[in-house]
Amino acid sequence: MKFNLTEEQLMIQQSAREFAENEIKDAIERDEKSEFPYEIVMKLGELGLLGMMVPPEYDGAGMDTISYVLAMEEISKADASVGVIMSVNNSLICWGVNEYGTPEQKEKYLRPLAKGQKDGKLYIGAFCLSEPNAGSDATAQTTTAQKDGDHYILNGTKNWITNGTTSEVYLVFAMTNKEKKAHGISCFIVERGTPGFEILKKEKKLGIRSTDTCSLGFSDCRIPKENLLGAEGEGFKIAMKTLDGGRIGIAAQALGIAAASLERSLRYAKERHSFGKMIIEHQAIQMKLADMATELDAARLLTLQAAWLKDQHQRHSAQSAMAKLYASRIAVKAALEAIQIHGGYGYVQEYEVERYLRDAKITEIYEGTSEVQHIVIARDLLRA
Ligand code: CAA
Repeated sequence: MKFNLTEEQLMIQQSAREFAENEIKDAIERDEKSEFPYEIVMKLGELGLLGMMVPPEYDGAGMDTISYVLAMEEISKADASVGVIMSVNNSLICWGVNEYGTPEQKEKYLRPLAKGQKDGKLYIGAFCLSEPNAGSDATAQTTTAQKDGDHYILNGTKNWITNGTTSEVYLVFAMTNKEKKAHGISCFIVERGTPGFEILKKEKKLGIRSTDTCSLGFSDCRIPKENLLGAEGEGFKIAMKTLDGGRIGIAAQALGIAAASLERSLRYAKERHSFGKMIIEHQAIQMKLADMATELDAARLLTLQAAWLKDQHQRHSAQSAMAKLYASRIAVKAALEAIQIHGGYGYVQEYEVERYLRDAKITEIYEGTSEVQHIVIARDLLRA
């Protein structure tokens, strides 16, 4: 593995950093009001950050996964809510449609998804795998898709769907043949506004509060057969392969939160005095900062390794799981330490580190809990 970033990768990192610093403001207010960052996401699209790995022929930026990780970290450092909106569109939606879509599906859906816009309006996607009783156990899908002539009829409920109320396109996983279990799941492209498709309860959450997370209902929802993504029965494999890449995005989101925790803590430790000196001069604080920096670097290397393997078209399931497992763990830890370093100030909204902790926690849950990442890693060890 080469450790030098290319000029192009460094340029993308720099422009994402500048965008984050100049354009992603007011995260505290959005978090308080649970307000979706509409204008910011529109601008992400204009910068090419919503379809980073989509080929230019479909209006994407044609970049590699390493560039995506670098940009995701910078954006999430400013606001992890913006980070996950970007991550879902890039790695859970655009990747799958590009990899498995027909030329017609790519023309119709991938092109606007890669730009994040259509007719001057936001155009993003949502990944609909989880159900009330199928979270970690993703093969336990109860949403059904019954073939009826040139259509499939969808019935069921999906839960905890990121970008759920704002999306135009939904990748929905459903059982086409219950007997075949994992091999009986198929994936459908569902457009917003399709009769029988309803946006249900919007969740009130602990963190990433400016993302819209909701439940979705399907009641005799007729989907044309042209909207089947991949082959019938291929849905579980599509979901798992998509999540192999998605977990790299969430690891990068966690890196952003850990990096913000470290940066804020360093700044504060140089300003705050106690016992007659800056608190950074106390060994107790130095040890915390040194651990945070070491763990952040280790998590970053794991994440870049997974991204590099993906770019080389090598199997990366276990490496993505390791990156997400470790980066999410150290993000929670870094945010907790940041609060501790800030003392009483850390516990209040203004210093932002309390939001980092609330935002960090979800990285240990979505796109596969830490327990699921352990399963993926352990199975890889058993196979070796
Ligand atoms: N790539 C390709 N194929 C894969 C695969 C992968 N990474 N992982 C599994 N498969 C295949 C297997 O090879 C197997 O195929 P065969 O039967 O032909 O051998 C088939 O899929 C079934 O696999 P398993 O037997 O391993 O399935 P399992 O029931 O034991 O589940 C699991 C494995 C890893 C626990 C999986 O269910 C899982 O990842 N669960 C978590 C789901 C998840 O991450 N949900 C997140 C929701 S999305 C989200 O959070 C988005 C958001 O809004 C932010």
